[in-house]
Amino acid sequence: MQVAAHQESVRSIDADAVVIALPSDDTWPQPTVELNEASGGVIGRLVESGEFKPKVGETMLLYGLAGVSARVTCVVGVGSLEDRDAGVAFRAAAAAAKRLAGHQRHRVAYCWGPGWNGDLCENGIAGAFVGCHGQDIHRRERRLHPFETLLWENGDRLEEGRALGESLNFCRDLVNGAPSDINPEGFVEAVVPLASEAGIVTEIWDEQRLAEERCGALLAVARGSDAPPRLMKLQYRGDASAQRPAMTLVGKGVTFDSGGYSIKPSDGMKTMKCDMAGAATVVGTLLAIARWKLPLRVDGVVGLVENLVSGRAYKLGDVLHARNGTTIEVLNTDAEGRLVLADALDVAAADRPERLVDLATLTGACMVALGTDTAGLFANDDTWCDQIMRAAGRAGEPVWKMPMFDFYGEQLRSQVADLKNIGEGRWGGAIVAAKFLENFVADIPWVHIDIAGPSFLDRAKSWIDAGGTACLVRTLVETARDLALTA
Ligand code: BES
Ligand code: MN
Ligand code: ZN
Repeated sequence: MQVAAHQESVRSIDADAVVIALPSDDTWPQPTVELNEASGGVIGRLVESGEFKPKVGETMLLYGLAGVSARVTCVVGVGSLEDRDAGVAFRAAAAAAKRLAGHQRHRVAYCWGPGWNGDLCENGIAGAFVGCHGQDIHRRERRLHPFETLLWENGDRLEEGRALGESLNFCRDLVNGAPSDINPEGFVEAVVPLASEAGIVTEIWDEQRLAEERCGALLAVARGSDAPPRLMKLQYRGDASAQRPAMTLVGKGVTFDSGGYSIKPSDGMKTMKCDMAGAATVVGTLLAIARWKLPLRVDGVVGLVENLVSGRAYKLGDVLHARNGTTIEVLNTDAEGRLVLADALDVAAADRPERLVDLATLTGACMVALGTDTAGLFANDDTWCDQIMRAAGRAGEPVWKMPMFDFYGEQLRSQVADLKNIGEGRWGGAIVAAKFLENFVADIPWVHIDIAGPSFLDRAKSWIDAGGTACLVRTLVETARDLALTA
């Protein structure tokens, strides 16, 4: 999809479709007013009659409007002026794109008037990329058709928007891919070419290296599968003088989670290809940061395994030796993500980054606590957590900070080892899991983000197809931009 800026009038622009913005207050922008007048007040009447509610992400298509040369007009709700932020730009632009992408369109012009530039332009364009890209990878006939050319009125951050949008869609493709394709090796094969093209250096640890590095927790989970595990390190050096990474992103990459011998019921297993969403988020974020050439050093570490059952699989009662020396009693093979992260976090911590953040589809309990749209934040450092929360606020991504009182961790005491991999009961399970991870980050400021809820949609929303969402990528890119500015 080509991206370009335009300064043409909404009525005469050469395009197959125009997109106009409809605020919920009376701050209608010039193109919307113009088009309403040219068409004899059609839009005003549709709003007054209640036919169209200008909520963010609501869309309406009007065909052959009088006084407009484009054949199709897409009206999209953008909410009130005071609530306008990058998240609104992203969702509204995505909803319009998704609506229009039902048919092939060559040129689509967004005519939203003044104010939609800077990070709103960047997020709007990224949203348009996300809106017209979905789960079509395996279909003979696509349901969503990306435009040939996207035009944005007075666009000033077109290339940043495109880089962000393409990184989000790559993250989503990884999650949407079939689990037998995107197994640990398949994940690496898909990521390496794009990473090198963006100037990211990758290092892949195979089984032998993982054994040499004493990654006993990760290797135990992997043992049940014929697909060998991998650990991938990614390094982006946007600041050659930096002694250590400003932050390292760590991702859970369980490419399929059957639960192991603590096996999941079929219903709970059917979307478990999404259990590598944390790893995909790390990749998507690093790609966007590298494509933007942000002046800072950021690393990534993803632990890639498949959690299956076989004659070699790990068992309840096994005691594992994690890389940092901790022994772990396995009392539930479905609590595998924390085992993979235990070693991945230790690998990341060994390079002494200034900050750590991990992303994981870690617990169903986090979805019980926060629902499907909000990510849970768990931290050993309030300053670092607040910085990510502020970035999430600017990006318009819902996150919520959870408590980390010490007593939650007491549930992890084992009779036979330093830790056991589950708590005493089901209450507070997302926090108990976070307390487990805390044992593997040494003294580095760290935030764990549980994305079990928002990383994968069972049903489409108006602005995004079902499946992988690439949630938190925009927040973390925003966080990196923040770090680069204050460094
Ligand atoms: N991958 C799951 C968590 C999950 C559940 C992600 C639903 C996305 C949607 C994780 O490995 C898991 O199975 N967690 C267990 C932990 C329990 C055994 C302590 C859970 O949530 O039930
Ligand atoms: Mn599991
Ligand atoms: Zn899992």
